[in-house]
Amino acid sequence: MDNLVIEGGKRLTGEVTVSGAKNSVLPIMAATLLTDETCIIKGVPILRDTNTMLRILRSLGKGVEMSRDTVNITSTRNNKTFADYKLVSTMRASFCVLGPLLGKFKKAEVSLPGGCVIGIRPVDLHLKGIKALGADISIVSGYVVAKAKQLKGTTMYLGGICGSSVLATDNVMMAATLAKGKTVIESAACEPEVADLANFLIKMGAKIKGHGTPIIEIEGVKQLHGAIHNIIPDRIEAGTFIVAALITKGDILIKNVCHAHLGALIDKLQEAGAYITKTDSSVRVRLKRNLKPVNVTTLPYPGFPTDMQAQVMSLMSVTPGISLITEKIYPDRFMHVAELNRMGARIQREGAHAIVEGTKQLSGAPVMASDLRASASLVLAGLAAQGKTTVARIYHLERGYENLEQKFLTLGARIWRKKE
Ligand code: UD1
Repeated sequence: MDNLVIEGGKRLTGEVTVSGAKNSVLPIMAATLLTDETCIIKGVPILRDTNTMLRILRSLGKGVEMSRDTVNITSTRNNKTFADYKLVSTMRASFCVLGPLLGKFKKAEVSLPGGCVIGIRPVDLHLKGIKALGADISIVSGYVVAKAKQLKGTTMYLGGICGSSVLATDNVMMAATLAKGKTVIESAACEPEVADLANFLIKMGAKIKGHGTPIIEIEGVKQLHGAIHNIIPDRIEAGTFIVAALITKGDILIKNVCHAHLGALIDKLQEAGAYITKTDSSVRVRLKRNLKPVNVTTLPYPGFPTDMQAQVMSLMSVTPGISLITEKIYPDRFMHVAELNRMGARIQREGAHAIVEGTKQLSGAPVMASDLRASASLVLAGLAAQGKTTVARIYHLERGYENLEQKFLTLGARIWRKKE
């Protein structure tokens, strides 16, 4: 297993290009199960999670060919509808093969994904939506077994106690594309990645309106065809580099970004005093004065993304003053707190809140990555800290950041891998 070693204190400068969005590409790959024709997806980030989804597609009978950042997905006419626990348990997003399998083949057997380190992560909303379309669902030995003679469109409310669900909206929207009649999803997730999936489905021949809003309407069609699609830029990767520029008091031009997707983050960081300029599809981030602490509450899109909570906590740890960070999507998503405190941060967790008392300087330490975004927050803290930080279990980072270490090296960071 590799560790990531960072010698902190280096100001990051230069240009970096953001890869395609992980959270778009995974459901879009799953959507190719809705057709027998070839689909071509471009701007695919090479990640552990994209490889897992390609393995799942192969196991379901798809032919998969990857060349640079483009993947061709074809049908082998050897379709299967069983998604194994071994694969689904490693990555939650794989549960979104349920909707397309059921839509296309009227049956699916997909392992329940289980919880993970950021919380229990139920799938009740996925199942509620799929049931509403008329499927028969039972749970057998840890698998969701779903069947339907014919899926039928209906109006459903898909909000949960923490608001809308991204992957549940994706799953139901995909199943509904081939249902009979019209489906209306109320309290649908508005995340850009859901809209990107809808745009891909529309290219495949689906009839969808309202994506990107809380009410999505899907008029079922008889079949879908192949399509070519470019994945939108990863807003969380972009956000991570924005924080990298600020935490190292650097000056970075971040290319391949969609400003509209970064509204809540940029607004919050500007409130803290960051100097951020937008040009075409890039942002330049630098400091002109010291940052001040800000309070952050995570919310469904267009609110502040939970996937940026840990990174912004690292930034607030080195911003003198008190900031309050409230997690409203995953109230237990605070595994990074103890690790940041090992580097000299002063963070106290109180339920779904973290009270951060910013200090002038962190000090490098051996720390442990617990999940994808927590890992990113530790790398950012390491970049700002004095001395050497060793981040263990960096396979979490590889799940969601393409060439992160290389990109930081280009910006002047002192960062390298070391075998444990
Ligand atoms: C997606 C993202 C993930 C991000 C999260 C929230 C992908 C591959 N992953 O995950 O990076 O952190 O959105 O923006 O796109 N919930 C229920 N019942 C359900 C489903 C979810 O109660 O059936 C709850 C969850 O526990 C959570 C909230 O709804 O509190 C939002 O979760 P959800 O949007 O479903 O997250 P994912 O789609 O799994």
